[in-house]
Amino acid sequence: MTGWSREYLENKDEYLKLFDSVMQKEQEQNVEFLEKSLKEITGRNYAVACSNGTDALHFALISLGVKSGDEVLTTNFSWISTASCISMVGATPVFCEPNILTYHMDLDSIKRMYSEKTKAIVYPHLFGNMSDTKEILDFCKEKNIAFIEDAAQSLGSSLNDVRAGSIGDISTLSFNANKVIAGVAGGGAILTDDKDKAELFKKLRRHGNNEVLGYNSKMLLLNAEFINFRLKRMKEWQAKRQEIAKQYDKQLKDYVTIQSTTNGLNHNYHKYVIRLQNKEVRDKVKEKLGAKVHYDKPLSENVMYNSINHRKDKTFISKVICDTILTLPLHPYMTQAEVDKIINTILIILEQDNDKFVDSMKKIIGEDIFDKSLINETTEDIYDYIVEKTYQWPEYIEDVDFKDKRKLKIAFNKFYENITTNTK
Ligand SMILES: Cc1ncc(COP(=O)(O)O)c(C=O)c1O
Repeated sequence: MTGWSREYLENKDEYLKLFDSVMQKEQEQNVEFLEKSLKEITGRNYAVACSNGTDALHFALISLGVKSGDEVLTTNFSWISTASCISMVGATPVFCEPNILTYHMDLDSIKRMYSEKTKAIVYPHLFGNMSDTKEILDFCKEKNIAFIEDAAQSLGSSLNDVRAGSIGDISTLSFNANKVIAGVAGGGAILTDDKDKAELFKKLRRHGNNEVLGYNSKMLLLNAEFINFRLKRMKEWQAKRQEIAKQYDKQLKDYVTIQSTTNGLNHNYHKYVIRLQNKEVRDKVKEKLGAKVHYDKPLSENVMYNSINHRKDKTFISKVICDTILTLPLHPYMTQAEVDKIINTILIILEQDNDKFVDSMKKIIGEDIFDKSLINETTEDIYDYIVEKTYQWPEYIEDVDFKDKRKLKIAFNKFYENITTNTK
């Protein structure tokens, strides 16, 4: 049962009352009450609700006049909408690499991929995490390019009290079913401090008012009421998510790589992601938990980009992340028993994998493999490499032609100390 179905059962009477009252009203009524809530939550001057977060991004690019011949920088590691909105206005998406620890767009890659044609950046705060964007914002100013903040996943998050949804020239939200606040029919919103842009967004969601080319992207009243109802409990649910995330952090951080966060972050934990040592182990844990992968390939590797014009940076980092990342179940209606089961399952699988690794090393070095006194000694890089590879693929060692058992033993003990005691 999903978090939302549990939440519905807990609040069924209130939902039914709300449904009954809204169904007696005109569905195309304005949704300013929701827009007012969104302005208050994000601190923006204007909020315009629409059908979904993808439309919100599309409208943001239209309002900036981005068109065919222009380029827009975005990340190669995100949900498809972050990039598809760029092709929707006829511009060329340019895929930058994420940072290996935060999974956020990397400034060096942005600088590498920038060109005279660049008109904007579409930047998502992935999984609800936020990194300091000061340098990227400075770069945008210097180059006179717009910063579109894709805050679809980060409603409720803030970094040093700077709220998600407040930092873009234009910022966008999504209320689809997997978000921290979901509409019953999805939903989206565009946030800005520019009055003219807000007026344009209102037109764009309603067929352009027949004045400009527009779209059918209104949010109906029932959906807006349900979103507004859920927004009232956002803080309470966020605290519950943080509590579960804290347990994952504490129990798993010595065994898996957790997403790096910055001091001063108030994380909404839209998603709790971990990275494992390789794809094989990730897939094993995924299958055992019935967990999901966000995202299994860099955006530029989706079939659609075989025929859609784009540019991309090297994809090494996004590929590594895609091969090793895993999303752990997390919602405010999880029971303690469910959380415990997830933690224990992961620990058991990883323990078994470590055993396999040690057994393989023993085949070569001998049974007497552990010797902590060796961890301060140096060995050659090649031995470190052999050990690392064997950790990733325990069978690897059997095919290696090595010369010095002692050096291998030093490398093994150093590595083992690292994986069992360090926070990776
Ligand atoms: C990062 C990101 N951007 C944009 C969107 C698009 O939102 P929607 O599904 O409401 O169109 C999503 C939603 O999945 C998202 O996760």
